[in-house]
Order: sequence, then C-alpha cells, then structure tokens
Amino acid sequence: MANLLVTGAAGFIGANFVRYWREQYPADGIVALDALTYAGNVANLDGVPQVTFVHGDIRDEALVAGILATHDIDTLVHFAAESHVDRSIQGPDAFIDTNVLGTHALLKVARAYWLDNGPARPHRFHHVSTDEVYGTLGATDPAFTEATAYAPNSPYAASKAASDHLVRAYHHTYGLQVTTSNCSNNYGPYQFPEKLIPLFIVNALHGRALPIYGDGQQIRDWLYVEDHCRGIERVLKNGRVGECYNIGGGEELANLVVIDTLCAAIDRAFANDPTLAARFPEAPAAKGLPTASLKTTVADRPGHDRRYAIDATKLERELGWKPAETFDTGIRKTVQWYLDHQPWVESVTSGAYRQWLDQNYGARS
Ligand code: NAD
Ligand code: TYD
Repeated sequence: MANLLVTGAAGFIGANFVRYWREQYPADGIVALDALTYAGNVANLDGVPQVTFVHGDIRDEALVAGILATHDIDTLVHFAAESHVDRSIQGPDAFIDTNVLGTHALLKVARAYWLDNGPARPHRFHHVSTDEVYGTLGATDPAFTEATAYAPNSPYAASKAASDHLVRAYHHTYGLQVTTSNCSNNYGPYQFPEKLIPLFIVNALHGRALPIYGDGQQIRDWLYVEDHCRGIERVLKNGRVGECYNIGGGEELANLVVIDTLCAAIDRAFANDPTLAARFPEAPAAKGLPTASLKTTVADRPGHDRRYAIDATKLERELGWKPAETFDTGIRKTVQWYLDHQPWVESVTSGAYRQWLDQNYGARS
C-alpha cells in the first residue's frame, strides 16, 4: 500500500492519473494538490472516491510539508506545471515561478521530510516532464532517446528542462529517490480546450474556425493519456531510481493529418447519431458540410518546433510498457468523450477562457 501526493491533480493528465490509480489501487491513499489555475478544472476530479483534495500552491512549502507529515506520504507524483507553449510565449514569468521555483520548493520539502528528519524513510519522487526539453528534430533525424542532449526552444520547454535538472541534482547530491518521465503530446478526456485537439473539437462543434499555425506540417508524436498514466505506473512500480524514461505513442503525425483525422471522426459521429445535429446546430456537420470546411491558416507560432519524435524503447524493454491505443482508436474515444461531456466543456470555458482565445488568436489573424 502506498500514500500518494499528486500535484497538479486537477489538470488534464493529473486528473486522468488519479482516476486511473484509484481504479487500479483502491486501497492506496491519494492526496490531490492543485492551485486550480483554470478555475473550472476542479470538476476534473468529480466523482473519484476517496481522494483528499487540497487547493494550494506547490510553492507553499509549509502546506506541502504539512501534507507529507499528516498523510504519511511515501510517493510524490509531480504533474503541477504551467503547460501551454503559447501562454509561455505571451507570459514566461509564471512558467519560471511554477515549473522551476515550484519544483524546487517540492524537492526541498521532500528532502527535509524523507531524508533529513531522523532516519531516512522509503520514498519516491516522480517528476513528470516532456519531450519538448530535447528541442526540435529535422525530418530524417532519429527520435529522441534518454541520451539526447537537452535543447529547449520555448520558455515552457526551458522551464521544464530546468526542473528536470533540479530533480536530477537532488538525486545525485542528496540521494533523493527520484525518477523522471519525458512524454510526448497527450490527448484524451479532461484536456482543457486551449491545446490543439480539444480546442479543435470544441470549435468544430460550435462552427468556429480551426486555426492552423503556419503550414500545418509540424510533426508531433501523439499518445492517448491513459497510456501515459500506465507508463508512469510502470516507472513508479519498477523503474530504476535516478533514471529517466521516455514515453511516446510512436504515432508521428503532421498537424494537418491530425486535424483531418479529427474532422473525419466528427463527421462520422454526426452521421452515426442523428441527435447530434440538434444538439450542435452550428456545427458544419449538422448542416451536411464537412467539418474540414472550418480549417483556416493563421500566423505561425514564434520559434515553432518542427518535429518531435520519441524513442520509448527503454520503457518497453525494461518495464514491458506498450501503448494500448492507436491514434485512430484514441481519437474516436476522445471525440466521443467531448460529445458526451458538454456540461464539462461549458464549466471550463469561462470568461477567462474567452479572453485567452481573443488574446492568442486575435494577434494571429
Ligand atoms: P494542465 O495545465 O492541464 O495541468 C496542470 C495543473 O497544474 C493544473 O490543474 C494547474 O492548476 C496546476 N498548477 C499550475 N500551477 C500550479 C502551482 N503553482 N501549484 C499547484 N498546482 C499548479 O497540464 P497537463 O497537460 O495535465 O500537464 C501535466 C504535466 O505533464 C506537466 O508537468 C506537463 O509539463 C507534463 N506533460 C504534458 C504533456 C501534454 O501533452 N499535455 C506532455 C508531456 C508532459
Ligand atoms: P499544442 O496542443 O499547443 O501542443 P505543443 O505545442 O505542446 O506541441 O500544439 C500541438 C501542435 O498544434 C503544435 O505544432 C501547434 C499546433 N497548433 C495549431 O496549429 N493551432 C492551434 O490553435 C494550436 C493550439 C496548436
């Protein structure tokens, strides 16, 4: 039995992880900590049994120290982060504050509680990171391995790279029992509609433009979120302390391919379910038009990384992990989830969300 502290637990991947872990390990204790940066996202944990939710900031060292002691935490899974590249371009400060200083605050508190407070206690600090720390690939370059040199290009990626280095340093210097995973682009339920896939689903259902940055030929390696959660589970259960593990779907796709697959999945859903036209009257699919008719080219993202690709051989070979979903099966599930969870979409797309859309996409038109 373990007692977990999950940071960023109300976020997209954190909430999926808490749901997954609760199902797999019903007896484990789970404390979910989140600052609720996106006010509506507390709903992401609705209905998950036996989770203690704490509304707070990872930089609040007294709060985190209190949680570790009160709940006898032995496993910290660190998702909390500012996570959106476009927001990091418009305002990098918050990324340094949470991703760098926040991670360091957690490391300090974890070290004090687990290592410096009498005899060392068994523990694990798992840090959730991204493939974006490795920078960008040329068309024929081999995929990122754990040995690829860090070369972050956006303020987001740089802040995650800095946090990865701090985690590594706390292992080498102080003996903190850490593992790190670097994952490719995730998609699936509970993803806030500012990232490509959920934004395009929500826009398509409301008849709004699908804004494609630049030529749309940028390549990402897409992974269904539950496969990411299973990868972290493997690392927590059997990963080697001090090691980093890449997690990726092996689904390298150009944005235009992702967008066309998504549009086709929405068209198919409308064709199969006649009630959708009445529920989403503004959608092109409700009017017999292809969803792809909403595709619009907008100005490119500054410094836009051209290609990411993950080599997940280490995780597969050492820990027997393989993704369960292909992009095709994962995207169908995802479209269906958004169709079935309109109240969730409405609850997270508040005034602040509309303001972000105006700010980000207004500047690109
Ligand atoms: P998200 O933005 O949906 O969730 C992040 C959560 O962290 C939010 O709920 C937010 O309220 C919380 N948070 C932010 N600042 C905080 C603070 N100071 N204190 C406490 N909580 C705070 O992001 P996500 O997509 O779920 O990403 C989770 C983690 O996975 C991040 O570390 C991200 O770098 C990493 N990651 C994401 C992807 C992806 O495709 N989404 C891929 C690889 C790695
Ligand atoms: P995103 O979901 O923001 O993830 P990341 O930047 O971390 O890879 O974007 C995925 C890809 O989609 C990326 O190449 C940028 C592109 N994109 C668009 O073309 N239009 C959009 O409105 C968004 C949000 C992203």
